Amino acid sequence: MCGIVGYIGNEDAKEILLKGLEKLEYRGYDSAGIAVVNKEGVHIYKEKGRIASLRNVVDESTEATAGIGHTRWATHGPPSKRNAHPHQSTSSRFTIVHNGVIENYEQLKREYLEDVTFTSDTDTEVIVQLVEQFMKEDQSVEAAFRKVLSLLKGSYATALLDEQEPEKIYVGKNKSPLLVGIGDGVNVIASDAMAMLQVTNQFVELMDKEVVIVTRDAVTIKSIDGQTVERDHFVAELDASDIEKGTYPHFMLKEIDEQPFVIRNIISKYQDDNGQIILDEDIRATLKEADRLYIIAAGTSYHAGLMGKQLIETISGKPVEVHIASEFLYNMPLLSEKPLFIFISQSGETADSRGVLVDIKEKGYPALTITNVPGSTLSREADFTLHTHAGPEIAVASTKAYTAQMAVLAILACDLANAKGITVDFDPIQELSIVANAMETLCDKKETFEKIARDYLSITRNCFFIGRAADYYVCLEGALKLKEISYIQAEGFAGGELKHGTIALIEDGTPVIALATQDHVNLSIRGNVKEVAARGAATCIISMGDCAQEDDQFVIPPVHKHLSALATVIPLQLISYYAALHRDCDVDKPRNLAKSVTVE
Ligand code: F6R
Repeated sequence: MCGIVGYIGNEDAKEILLKGLEKLEYRGYDSAGIAVVNKEGVHIYKEKGRIASLRNVVDESTEATAGIGHTRWATHGPPSKRNAHPHQSTSSRFTIVHNGVIENYEQLKREYLEDVTFTSDTDTEVIVQLVEQFMKEDQSVEAAFRKVLSLLKGSYATALLDEQEPEKIYVGKNKSPLLVGIGDGVNVIASDAMAMLQVTNQFVELMDKEVVIVTRDAVTIKSIDGQTVERDHFVAELDASDIEKGTYPHFMLKEIDEQPFVIRNIISKYQDDNGQIILDEDIRATLKEADRLYIIAAGTSYHAGLMGKQLIETISGKPVEVHIASEFLYNMPLLSEKPLFIFISQSGETADSRGVLVDIKEKGYPALTITNVPGSTLSREADFTLHTHAGPEIAVASTKAYTAQMAVLAILACDLANAKGITVDFDPIQELSIVANAMETLCDKKETFEKIARDYLSITRNCFFIGRAADYYVCLEGALKLKEISYIQAEGFAGGELKHGTIALIEDGTPVIALATQDHVNLSIRGNVKEVAARGAATCIISMGDCAQEDDQFVIPPVHKHLSALATVIPLQLISYYAALHRDCDVDKPRNLAKSVTVE
């Protein structure tokens, strides 16, 4: 969470930093700031709220060609101008931005900074005050910076300006993502390549505990003990248009609409010219060898994991457990003899998942990451990576990443069955292309979902989603989508479980959206709909193909039963989108959230 940028070149640094921060706003958006440096000194502009608010306070007349910037998701101290980055040392000589959490900041304050008066509630300020403190020991800024970083426990991607050296940015990284971008007479830093595509598409990845000195013409990477490190750059394969809304009012709507293309893209990446599944042989062998798979994920990715369990167990017969990442280490199950851990994560940066990855790697277990961001922390630190090829997902609410994760899991399940010599009556590639067509049809029916959102969700304070079997898992995702962007209290429920307590919440007009896409539970879920309708609920049934009945509010075109979730979720994504719109909510940047959850 939080995003940082830095620029040193020949152009107006303010504008480049602000544009970069706009691209990083998905990482946090409760306050933001920039610091630019010129011969007169460092100029800091910061504001509570979005980058748009920051723009209003930046003095246009300040000329500077170097600087750093930050967009914040508050951890230590409430969102406010006082806690917004950049932060300065007492003398104002040093200025810093930081993404991450310094776990031992209180201890460092006690040990080294007793006499210092702090001007923010943040953990970050400790870093910049320590640099100033260690400079009193008559050492170079670089040595002082390295000494500070070596004392920090926790995560950081950080950039430091020294007023006395306006031609340099000092950079450090541990556990939080950070890239250095290389240009001609210009160099940049960014939490995500997207932020600096405006300057360059060539980047160098930084490793944990590295320190970098960035000037206009050079990037010097060093280990924390000062040894120079050589590293090649890579070209970011990002199309600038992927990260623009184009004609769409919101990224979320664009990303919902992109799902048919994403599924077709996955098909093209995972199928060879002979129609066979393409999968790394080592992944194939490791999957086959494992006696149990442990899927670890959070939020929407956890919901994809639930479907993954059903797909893998049904198709390949391999036992699977799915665990919420933040709970796994505290409620650890008994592990099998040969476990394989599968981390599902859109961003590849989720700290809760990484905590599990670090733990299981220490214990010597193999790990596979399924992610939309190859090169992300979870991807780098696992033994294997499978890419979901969904393209950048900018809206905070995950949509296309979820369906992409399930598509890859379906392919994986079939490949595993093939590797075990099991004949499967299910061609994932062919069935996924039917799903892509169905998704297209669903995306063309926006008015219907807009009307459902208006009729059922305009004034309600709560909503229930009910379903059975795979539909139940989609209900969990539908409820998460609705609550995160519309702030309607929503719950996904197993149809049969309602009467064991939750049905007490049903009153006259309570919206209950029921999914009826599974043949074997069609009658029973319809029975559950009758139960809530008898107690006054406003029921809305979304069914599929042969499960449809005359009065259903919407019928989804039929897709293979293994893949029903990929189609069924689209009406729920669109209903959530329109519900949020009708309630004037900020669809792409819902309150209190951030896209990349890099704190535990
Ligand atoms: C919900 C959403 C979150 C993420 C969760 C995990 O729309 O986006 O629930 O799914 O924070 O993030 P990743 O998948 O990046 O690990």
